[in-house]
Amino acid sequence: MANKELSMIDLVIEAHTGLERQGPGSPEMTLKALSFLDNLDKNMLVADLGCGSGGQTILLAQNLTGKIIGVDLFPDFINMLNHNAKKQNLDDRVNGVVGSMENLSFQKEEFDLIWSEGAIDNIGFEKGLTYWNGFLKKNGYVVVTCPSWFTRERPAEAEKFWADSGSGIDTIEHNVKAMQTAGFQFVASFTLPDVCWMNYFIPRDKALKAISKKYAGNKTVETFIMENQYEVELYAKYKQHYGYAFYIGKKI
Ligand SMILES: C[S@@+](CC[C@H](N)C(=O)[O-])C[C@H]1O[C@@H](n2cnc3c(N)ncnc32)[C@H](O)[C@@H]1O
Repeated sequence: MANKELSMIDLVIEAHTGLERQGPGSPEMTLKALSFLDNLDKNMLVADLGCGSGGQTILLAQNLTGKIIGVDLFPDFINMLNHNAKKQNLDDRVNGVVGSMENLSFQKEEFDLIWSEGAIDNIGFEKGLTYWNGFLKKNGYVVVTCPSWFTRERPAEAEKFWADSGSGIDTIEHNVKAMQTAGFQFVASFTLPDVCWMNYFIPRDKALKAISKKYAGNKTVETFIMENQYEVELYAKYKQHYGYAFYIGKKI
C-alpha cells in the first residue's frame, strides 16, 4: 500500500473519510439554519447533496421527521454515512447513495427540502440552485452553505487561492440575488463563526499527520499536505475577508 501510486483524490478521500465533517460547519449552525424553516410536513422527503460522510445528515434526521437521502460522489463517504445511520438506528429513515448532485436520478418536484453544506460551490451557486429548484415541491426549501466574500476588498493572495481552486466565490449580496434569480424567495443568510473552521481543520490536521507518517517520502503526499496547510494559513490571515455563509430560500 505504501508504494501504491497515489492520486490527490485518493488522498482527499483518505484524509476525510474518518472525519465527522469534510468542510467547515457545526451542529449548532446546522440547527440554526433549520430553525428558519416553517410548516414542515411530518412525512417530508429531504435530499442532502454532497453529504460527505453525513455528520449533518444524521443531525437532520435526529431533528426532522420523514426520510433523508444523502448523495455524494465518493462511495467511502456514503458507506460511512450508511454505517453511522445504522449505528444510530436511523437506517429506516436515512439512505446514502453514490451519485452526482449535477445529475440527480430523482423525480421532479419530489422533495420538501434540499440541504447542502459546503458542496454547491463545486458546480456553481446559481447553476446548482437553478437545477435543484426543479426537484423541490412548491414552497419547498433549499438550504446551502457556500464560501463567500465578506468584504468588498479582495486580497489578491486570497482571490488567487479561490480562483485556482475553481471556486465561483462571490459576495453574500450577489448570492442572495442569484438565489432569487434561481426561483427562490430569500429567507435568511448568516455567516459561520471561526469555530466552524476549527471543527474541520483540527481533525483534518490530525488525519494529515497520520497520512504523512504512513507515506513518508511520497512527493504527492508532501504536496497534498502543503496545500492543506496553506489553506489553513490563508484562512488565518484573511478570515475577515471570506468565510462560509448559510443561504436559505423557499421555492416560489
Ligand atoms: C466540503 S465537502 C462537505 C461535506 C459535508 N456536506 C460536510 O459539510 O461535512 C463537499 C462534498 O461534496 C462532494 N461533492 C463534490 N462534488 C460533487 C458532485 N458533483 N456530486 C456529489 N457530491 C459532490 C464531495 O465528495 C464532498 O463530500
